[in-house]
Formats: sequence, C-alpha cells, structure tokens
Amino acid sequence: MKVVRVQHVSVNCHGRLDATRRFYTELFELPELPRPEIPGVDGSWLGLGDVQLHLVDAAQSGNLPDPVAPHWCLWVADIDAARTELESAGIDYIEGAQGDVVQIWISDPNGQVVELQQAR
Ligand SMILES: [Fe+2]
Repeated sequence: MKVVRVQHVSVNCHGRLDATRRFYTELFELPELPRPEIPGVDGSWLGLGDVQLHLVDAAQSGNLPDPVAPHWCLWVADIDAARTELESAGIDYIEGAQGDVVQIWISDPNGQVVELQQAR
C-alpha cells in the first residue's frame, strides 16, 4: 500500500495525563493543538512539526489491535485499497472514524499497533 507520511505518534498515559502533558510541553516545548471530543477517551494533542503527538488517557483493553495502545499512524493514499490489501494478507484490523478521517488499526508481528488514516 502507498504510505504518504507519518500523521501522528500516540502515547498511552492512562491516569497520568497532566504529568505527561507537562513533560512534553515543557521539555520539548510542543504546542497544544485542538482535539476532537472522543467519547470515553481523554487526552491532548501536541504539535511536532507536521506530525502530531497524541497523549491518550484511557485504559488499554489488552487485546490487539487496541486503538488506545501506543501506536504510530501512517497516512495512506487509498484506505479502501489498504483494507483490501490487509484482507488479502489475512491481517486482522478494526476500523473507526473520527472528525474528518477514517481509521484502521492493525498490529505488527511484535504487537506494535499501527494506525492507517485517510480523509473521509
Ligand atoms: Fe491514533
């Protein structure tokens, strides 16, 4: 599948959002960005050049792929083609939508979660 860029990196900071936000905003001087309301998931989005750093304050399920687990997110050229490719390869995925993007989460052979995104 065609990957365009890294869209965001996501850190799980369940129960430690304020300390984590201070860590990244003060040590690295990252600005806070607007964040859409995500039911049941607190957090902060920070700017990192053209990439975002997402701080996610939610309990992880322990199942893979878990959207609130630590992950990196790749912007793909064609998410429908990506989904077809995942199905052909027999890779399990879950889907979501948030604001103006559609999302797919998978996990690599190490249990590292990878998110794919494209505009609606
Ligand atoms: Fe994400």
